[in-house]
Amino acid sequence: MERTVPDDFERMWADLAPVGRSAVSGGYFRQPFTAPEAELRGWFREQCAARALRVEEDAFGNLVGWWDVGSGPAVVTGSHLDSVLDGGAYDGPLGVVSALAAVDLLRARGVAPARPVGVSVFVEEEGSRFGLACLGSRLATGTVSWEVARELRDGDGVAFGDVVEGVVAGGSSSLLASVGTYVELHVEQGRDLVDRGAAVGVASGIWPHGRYRFEFAGSANHAGTTRMEDRADPMLTYAFTALGANKQARLAGERATFGRVSVTPNGTNAVPSHVTAWLDARCSTSESLTALVDGITAQATDRAGRDGTSLTVTAESVSPAVAFDAALAARVAADHEDGDWPVIPTQAGHDAGILSAAGIPSAMLFVRNPTGVSHSPAEHAELPDCLVGVSALADTLERLLR
Ligand code: GLV
Ligand code: MN
Ligand code: MN
Repeated sequence: MERTVPDDFERMWADLAPVGRSAVSGGYFRQPFTAPEAELRGWFREQCAARALRVEEDAFGNLVGWWDVGSGPAVVTGSHLDSVLDGGAYDGPLGVVSALAAVDLLRARGVAPARPVGVSVFVEEEGSRFGLACLGSRLATGTVSWEVARELRDGDGVAFGDVVEGVVAGGSSSLLASVGTYVELHVEQGRDLVDRGAAVGVASGIWPHGRYRFEFAGSANHAGTTRMEDRADPMLTYAFTALGANKQARLAGERATFGRVSVTPNGTNAVPSHVTAWLDARCSTSESLTALVDGITAQATDRAGRDGTSLTVTAESVSPAVAFDAALAARVAADHEDGDWPVIPTQAGHDAGILSAAGIPSAMLFVRNPTGVSHSPAEHAELPDCLVGVSALADTLERLLR
C-alpha cells in the first residue's frame, strides 16, 4: 500500500512557511480577514484547482474543496488556516495540508470513494481576532447566530459583520448539509503521545472550557503624590486574582490562565482606573469548571472589597464537554500494522468538537509534538511523524469511504 506521495506534503508545507510569519519571533500572525489569511485562502483555492476539487464557500468564508465522487453522505476532513497571535506553524495548517496530501494518497492508491470527499477550512478557529473560538464552525452549524456573530468586535472596534460582508454576503450556511462524517487531523498540543511512544493518536473527547471577562474598576490617580493607603488600584486586584486563579487551578488539577489584559489609561505614572483581563479556564468536568470559575470570582470579589475596587465578571463563551463518537474513534484507532492507536482526551478546543456537538459524527487524529508546546512559535512536529499522520488520515478516510 502507498504510504506517501513523494514531496507532496513538503512542497505544500514550504508554500505556507513564509505566510504571516514574524521576522522577529518566527511565530505566525494569521488573523481572519487579514492579508496573510487571504493569501492562505488563495493558496487553498489553487491547491483545490490543481486537484480538480470544486470549491464551495459559505456566507461566512468557510471553505470546502469537494471531490465529487460516489453518492450519499460525504466524508469531510480539514482544519483551519488562522493562527493565534504569534502562533506556531502547525496548529490548523497541519490538518489542511494533511487533508490535501491524503486525497493525493487515496488517488495514488487507486481508491474509488463510495461517498463524496471534502477538504475543509473553517474561519476564525482561534478566536484571536473576534474573541469567540471556532466562530466559522459555530456559524456553519448554527451553534451561534449571525445576529450575535456580526456584532463581535476586534481590538480596533471593527465588527465581524462588516468584515465578512466585505468579503462574502453574511447570512446562513448550507455548507455542511451533506456531511455524514468529519475528521480533523491536528498537531497534539500536549505530550501524551510522546509519553506513549506513538506517532499518532485518536481523540476521545474535549474538556469543557470557557472564556470569562473580568472587569476591575478603581480610581485613576497620580503615581507619585497619592499615598499608598489612599489608592483604589484595580491592578492590585487583578494581580491577586491572577495568582489566586493559578493556585486554585493547581490545587484542583485543572487549568486557569490570564493571557490577555488591557489597562486604562495604561500610563507609567498613573494608578490605573480600569483593568480588563480574560480568564481561560478548562476542567475535566462541567461541575469542576463551574466550581473553579466560581472560586476564582469569589476570591477576586473579596479582594476587590479590600482594595476599594469593584469587579464585574462576564462569561463570553462556555463550551461544554465533547465526547467524540466512541464507536467511530474505536473504528479509526483499531487494527493497524503498528497495532491500535492510542485514544486520548484533549484540553484544546477544535472545530471537530463543534461539529460533533451539532450531531455530525466526528473524529480527530493527533500527530506527536516532541515538546508538547503549542500556541507558541516553538510548536513543532517532526516531518516523519507528519507523514505518518498523512498516511493515517488516508487510512481513516479509506475505512470511512468503503
Ligand atoms: C484552541 O486552540 C483553543 O483550545 O484555544
Ligand atoms: Mn489553537
Ligand atoms: Mn487548531
